Order: sequence, then structure tokens, then C-alpha cells
Amino acid sequence: MLSDLQQQPADALLALIKLHNADPRPDKIDLGVGVYRTGQGETPVFGAIKAAERKLVEAQDSKAYLGPEGDMGFVTRLMPYIFGKDSADMGGRIEGMQTPGGTGSLRLALAMVKRAGYNRILVGKPSWPNHAQICADIGLEVGEFHHSAADGTANMDALREALSSAGPDDAILLHGCCHNPTGIDYSNAEWDEIAGLIAEHKVLPVIDLAYQGLGMGMEEDAYGLRRVLVEVPEALISYSCDKNFGLYRDRVGALYAMVADEGDLSRVMSNGHSLARANWSQPPDHGAAAVRMVLEDEALTAQWLDELDQMRERMRQVRAKLAAAGETGGVDLAPIGGQNGLFSIIPFTPEQVQEMRSKHGIYFAGSGRINVAGLTTGNIDQFIAAVADVTG
Ligand code: LMR
Repeated sequence: MLSDLQQQPADALLALIKLHNADPRPDKIDLGVGVYRTGQGETPVFGAIKAAERKLVEAQDSKAYLGPEGDMGFVTRLMPYIFGKDSADMGGRIEGMQTPGGTGSLRLALAMVKRAGYNRILVGKPSWPNHAQICADIGLEVGEFHHSAADGTANMDALREALSSAGPDDAILLHGCCHNPTGIDYSNAEWDEIAGLIAEHKVLPVIDLAYQGLGMGMEEDAYGLRRVLVEVPEALISYSCDKNFGLYRDRVGALYAMVADEGDLSRVMSNGHSLARANWSQPPDHGAAAVRMVLEDEALTAQWLDELDQMRERMRQVRAKLAAAGETGGVDLAPIGGQNGLFSIIPFTPEQVQEMRSKHGIYFAGSGRINVAGLTTGNIDQFIAAVADVTG
């Protein structure tokens, strides 16, 4: 009866968690899945979230359904942070809904792109592997362009070429900041040009903002998104609070649509609602309610932003230390200093990735993507020495 189902490979990134856990070596290092870690290697719950959760337990008087759009207080409270205080809804042209994590939001956004009649979406290569996986599941063709150049910066020529051959039948998926897996973001000047090109070629932008605040700052990390929204009539925005509020397993995200005319919002968002109903019916409440309670409270908001600043500062220090190592064995770690967020790619061969695991107990994705937050003052020298050993 189920014999036609083929065995599927385990998700390579999530499988790393088990591989690392099974390694008995005490000095093993986990640079795999994208979770932030402190200098002590821990992933604690934000203090602001803990305080909001306590208030939530006291204040919540019902767990009755909220509807497919979830907690709209959460959705609207986030908007000034994403779209800017002065343009939080772009004059009534933006509306959102709560989703289970950034993945839930992407699932809806990409399904809406398909429903809207688009057959192809441009996606930089490499990208977060789940982007291609969701597109394949939805039946949306992916048009690839090279995201990064050999010197560790963005490959603008490839993007220009991809956009110049695209048109109104195409969409483009861009990482708003902290590019996953490369850490290579566009500069503000590059975003200015990209926004113009997207508008000129009438391509529908889908912007994935999953790491706001982990790159240069909450405002700085939104520059590209906001710049594109000024230039184009319509866009879809996938947002995740899993990283910048540390809520990973609680699955907290949102989908926003910007439309040309306020009167179109209800029709466009009804597609998000119906797709949500068919997928998960309604999003899980707890994490989003905690975020809302943080954002409703000035002191908790200040505490959250302070905790986020500390995370970003620590990752900057790790990046600076790696960059200072420069040429290490056969690779140059210097570009890592100018990259953003949790991830960077070191150009290991597949054999070197295996050797880092087997010989040194250091685990990261097969693409050579490392989670820089997995490095601490206690293990960074060990990591650099291992890189020198396997690539030298
Ligand atoms: C990652 O890329 O490590 C994170 O986005 C976690 C995930 O779900 O893959």
C-alpha cells in the first residue's frame, strides 16, 4: 500500500546534530545548524522572553483558536522594526499574518508566487537548501545565478545578468541580510542598484529576512528590504523571529505582502489564509505571544535589543579573530571579517569536511558552511589549527 514511497535522505543539516551528539570526544566542536551560542557555548532563552513568558502565563485567559492569521498584535508590533517607524505599513499597503517560523512563511510566499501564475523564481547559488526544497515541492522552477564572487564578496555581475534577462513572469528570492550560507551581504550601494533593476524588469521580489539584527543592527539589516519596497509596486516578505528572539523550537515567523493598491490587500492575504488553513490551519501561539509581550513593554523591548546587541558583538569578535588568522593552511580566512550573521563558507573540499569531522571532531555542513557562533575563546585556536592541518 505504501510500497511506492521511496526512501528519502535525512536532511543533511539536521543530521549533523545527531552526528555531533554521538561523538564521544570532549573537545568536539559543533558549527552545524544555525543557532546562536554564547561564549560558554550555550543557547539560552533571552531574558526578555523569559520575563514575557512569565507575564503570559499570568495574563493568558484562554487558548481558544485565533484563526489562520494568528496573533495580529504580534504581526503589527513587528512592522515598525521591519519596514521602518515612518513607513510601517507603506501607507496602508502592507498586511501580514503569523506563520510557524520563517519556513512556514516561505512556504506560503512561494505557494502564492506559484498561484499568482509565476513559473520561475531566481535564486542565488548557494542558498539555504530549504529554499530549493520548498520550490521543488511547490513545482516552482528555480533559475540560478552565482551569489558570491571568488574574493568573498557578492557577485553583482551575475545578479545583473540574471535580472536583465528576467521579466514580469519571473520572481526573485533574496536574503534581506546575513546571507545563509555565505554571510555575504549586498552593500547599501548594491541594494540601491538591485532595487532599481528589480523595478525596471518588473520582477516580483520575495525577501527572506530571517536574521534581522544579527548582521550590523536592526535598522542597518533592513536597508535592502526597505530600499526594494520603495521602488516596486508589490512584494512578499518572509520574516523569522527564531534567531533574533532566540525562539527556534517555538517556530515564530510572519508573512507580509505589500500590494500596489490598498484595496488589493484583502484578496492577496486571503490566499495566505487559505494556504495556511490547508497546511497547518493556525500557527502555534506561544512564541509569537511572548514576542508581542516584549514589544508591548518598553523595558522588555530595551532588554531584548540589548541582548541582541551582545549577540551581534560576540559574533563580530569571532569574525575578527578568524579574519586575523588570514592565510591558514590552504585557505584565506580574511574575508570572514567582512561577512555578516551566523554563517560563512570556508572552501573545504568534501574530503576536508570529512577529515575535520573524523580527525578533529569539528562538525559543519558539507558545503563548508560554518556557524561562527559555535566558536568561543576556548575553541577558536583549536579550530584554526585544524583548518591549517586539513587544508595545508
Ligand atoms: C540553518 O540554516 O541552520 C537554520 O536556518 C536552521 C534550519 O532550519 O536549517
